[in-house]
Amino acid sequence: MNKTITILPGDGIGLEVVKATTVVLDKIADMYGHQFDYQYADIGGAAIDKHEDPLPQETIDTCKKSDGVLLGAVGGPKWDNHPKGIRPEQGLLGIRKELQLFANLRPVTGHESLTDSSTLRKEVVDNVDLMILRELTGGLYFGEPQERRQVDGEEAAVDTMQYKKSEIERIVRQGFEMAKLRRKQLTSVDKANVLESSRLWRETVEEVKKDYPEVELDHMLVDNAAMQLIRDPKQFDVIVTENMFGDILSDEASMLTGSLGMLPSASIGSTAPGLYEPVHGSAPDIAGEGKANPLATISSAAMMLKYSFDMQDEAAAIDRAVASVLTNGHRTGDIAKQGETVLSTEEMTEKVLDVLKN
Ligand code: IPM
Ligand code: MG
Repeated sequence: MNKTITILPGDGIGLEVVKATTVVLDKIADMYGHQFDYQYADIGGAAIDKHEDPLPQETIDTCKKSDGVLLGAVGGPKWDNHPKGIRPEQGLLGIRKELQLFANLRPVTGHESLTDSSTLRKEVVDNVDLMILRELTGGLYFGEPQERRQVDGEEAAVDTMQYKKSEIERIVRQGFEMAKLRRKQLTSVDKANVLESSRLWRETVEEVKKDYPEVELDHMLVDNAAMQLIRDPKQFDVIVTENMFGDILSDEASMLTGSLGMLPSASIGSTAPGLYEPVHGSAPDIAGEGKANPLATISSAAMMLKYSFDMQDEAAAIDRAVASVLTNGHRTGDIAKQGETVLSTEEMTEKVLDVLKN
């Protein structure tokens, strides 16, 4: 098959991890007789530097003309105080909205050989296997108004948490569909004891549930969910939740696997292309030093093969290779224990290639 992939390296370690990932994708293309053509475009801080715009129209057009989008990371201290209030993150939020990527899949899969890297006890985290399904184009991130205003004669700020029923329904349906393919257990996370948007969320979940009698459903308040995730993560199969709750819970959940550097994600809508990115950020502290863990981005590419290209064997080959390098004890700095050899981004990528070749 011939596929065009838009690469958005973004900022910081984004550049390094997407580079590593294209090498792995090329290897896959080689092995399975595909051709992947890459087109590069600017996003985030890099785009601000070049175009004074975190998401140039050209980038949007390039993405829309491709079969899949692979993104590194955006942001960094350099752009924190832009005079016009332009922020790299607007590029990321903008592309999610432009491509209508309402469903963000963040699988949290423990690798047995990494359970020691987690700050939690081995028996709590080993074999953890859950999926966070985060709503990605609504809620506090996009609700209007979002502004500064005067209240009682002093400066105030307002953000708006808004959800239309149709927005809730489509993500919740995805949640049930996903649970159906897994262990048939869906946890919907909300704050229905306080928020009206959460009460609409919960009502809608109950309605959609009628179409999925085979899926076991429970509702959990977000504060309790945050606690349960570290108390007993294995109770979860699929978690479906709104945008900001999902943002917070997925960072928390990443620690179950030992490092934020391990978590891949897929953002998909009802039409192609999907966008694939690691959950981690641009890590300005180690940017350019060749220390970044490329595995989350490599695993994100595997999700692209699986969800956008329907290349199941190819995706599975990458997942197996990632698991195998970890089992063989190869470690980048973020997942190494004291005394273990620390590999560079490139060396880790080589290890993945070595396994793929065999
Ligand atoms: C994420 C990130 C982004 C988000 C930021 C960079 C805007 O934290 O993808 O989880 O909040 O969605
Ligand atoms: Mg986040």
